Formats: sequence, structure tokens, C-alpha cells
Amino acid sequence: MRKGILTIAAVGLLTTGGLTACGDDSGDKAASTKTPKIGVILPDSKSSARWETADRRFLEEAFKAANVKYDIQNAQNDKTAFQTIADQMITGGVTALMIVNLDSGTGKAVLDKAKSQGVATIDYDRLTLGGSAQYYVSFDNETVGKLQGEGLSKCLTEKGAKNPVVAYLNGSPTDNNATLFKAGYDSVLKPKFDSKEYVKGPEDAVPAWDNAQAATIFEQQFTKASGKIDGVLAANDGLGNAAISILKKNKLNGKVPVTGQDASTEGLQNILAGDQCMTVYKAVREEAKAASDLAIALAKGEKKDTGQTVKDGDRDVPSVLLTPKAIYKDTVKDVIADGYVTKEEVCTAAYTKFCAEAGIS
Ligand code: BGC
Repeated sequence: MRKGILTIAAVGLLTTGGLTACGDDSGDKAASTKTPKIGVILPDSKSSARWETADRRFLEEAFKAANVKYDIQNAQNDKTAFQTIADQMITGGVTALMIVNLDSGTGKAVLDKAKSQGVATIDYDRLTLGGSAQYYVSFDNETVGKLQGEGLSKCLTEKGAKNPVVAYLNGSPTDNNATLFKAGYDSVLKPKFDSKEYVKGPEDAVPAWDNAQAATIFEQQFTKASGKIDGVLAANDGLGNAAISILKKNKLNGKVPVTGQDASTEGLQNILAGDQCMTVYKAVREEAKAASDLAIALAKGEKKDTGQTVKDGDRDVPSVLLTPKAIYKDTVKDVIADGYVTKEEVCTAAYTKFCAEAGIS
């Protein structure tokens, strides 16, 4: 199965035309004389476990394999710290800067400053709207949302739900990805609301993807709907877990399907226990490798053709967009086989029984 997932990721790269060197000698000559050093600013460690457990790990793996100097820091959801870290990295001589912005405003300020200092820039995972990054590396985020919408629909059908009320817990309003995820799940669910097959329940965006706030928000949604919520479109595993905690309090966990994203250990455990319907696995190892390849090329003053662009207003941003994969109870094992999480992390004492049932040996 490891091969299966890797093949899909590889196809994602292939459809983007792969990364081919352009042999362009108009590249920045100044950069080519400097020793490559890559700075990475991660957004926080609470909105999703991925940033510290997957992105940091796989970026380090890619930089070490390429024998390139690097500095990875985490802004811990603090916009001032984000800018300070960027300033320090630029002063510290990074030749390429990769950012996961906290919002497009501060992201743009950082990218513009780096550019003015001759530092190459990459938007990692989140596109900075109106920004100036030379590349954008992420997943096809609208497809992520589509998989969530389809997943929720599949689980509602399996539960035999009739005219189910569906609540939305959207991601951060300042994250362009949250907009793309919603466009994806709306494309599946809105026609069902319009045809009255489903009923649109409460909808809220969760500021900064704050998991604790998500529980409060979901509890308010639940009260507002007098407990009549039959499915929850939660934009990631952390928000999903927040909804599950409130459903548990009301003895409705396992009865109301909840979606997620990131294939976090907690999300996978919730799926195995039957409390979460599905998650979306994004092979961060591939994302980190693609971004690292580009950052190293840029640091050497080379340009690479990604074969694909994404529109940001009038600007065509050269992009690498990888392919996400829906994960259900029977495919949790694929995420483990791909080396994203370990069996030991997922199959702790409370989950050994569920792991055996799901064929995780
Ligand atoms: C990422 C998700 C993550 C969320 C919260 C999004 O931009 O694409 O993987 O769950 O941010 O950190």
C-alpha cells in the first residue's frame, strides 16, 4: 500500500510537469555565489499537529539529504514574532525563505522584504494573496475539500440518514486554504442543500483554526440547533476532535459523522474508534521535498519550471500542487505504511482492539 500512496503523490508531481531545470542563465548571479541556506517559518503548533510532527521532520529530512544549511522556526501564531523571525533570518544570511503565512497581510510584508533583500521566496502550503513568492508548493486544496464533502456524504448514507442537518466548522478566515477547502466541500454539499436532500445547519469559521475555540463554537451550534445535527463538516482533524468532544458529552459520538484532514494520530484514532468518518491524508514528505528542491535551486540562482501556475489576482504563481487522498477506517493502515505515523503512535492501549479490527498488524 505504501507504493499505492507514493504512486498517487508521484502522479501529482507528474501532472504538474515535474520539476525540470530551465537552464536559464538569467538567474540571480549574486545568489549563485552565496552558500545556500534555507529559512522556514512554520505558523504554530496547535492548529494542527502536522507542523511540528510532519513538516519540520520531513523538511529537515530533505535539507539534510541535500546537505544544505537550514533554520526552521515556529511563529506560534504570533504575527509580530513571525516578522521578527523573518528579519532575523534575512540578517542571518538565508538565501531562500519559505513561509506558511498567518494571514496574507503579514505574509506579504515578509515576502516583499525578503525580495527587496535578494532573498528567494516560497509560499509553503498556504498561498499569500497579493504576495510576491516566486513559487507556491501545496496540495490541490479544492480537492481536499471535495474529498471531505464526498466523505461526509458517504458516511451519512451508510448511517441511513434522512434529510440530515449538516453543520460546518470552517478553517481560519485568514487562511486561503480554508477558502479553497470550503469551495471544495460546497461543490459537493450545496447541490444537496439546494435539492433539500440535506438541510444546511449552523456554519462558523474557527479563528486561527483554534481547536479549543472550536469546541465552544460547536457547543453553541449544537445548542442553537437543539441538538439536531446529523453530520459535521469539520475542516481538519483538530476541529473534528473538538466537535467529537461535544458529541461525546451528549452521547452522540459515533452516531454523527464528522470529517477531518491531516491524518493526525488523534484523527486516525478517532476514525478507528468510529467517532470520525474520514480524514484527508496529505503526503507532507512529498510537499517538503518539492519545496526543498525549489528552495535549493533558487538559492543557487537557478530557476525551475513546475509546469503549473495558480492565479493570485492577475499574477500567475508557478506552483507544485500534490494530490490528497481520503482515508477511512479500512485505509488507516496506508498512512502507517507510508511512514507518516507509526503503528505504536496510533495503536496505543485504548486502540489495540480497533487496530486489529482495521487490519493493522
Ligand atoms: C493546512 C492544514 C492545517 C491547517 C491548520 C492549513 O493551511 O493546509 O493542513 O490543518 O492549515 O493548521
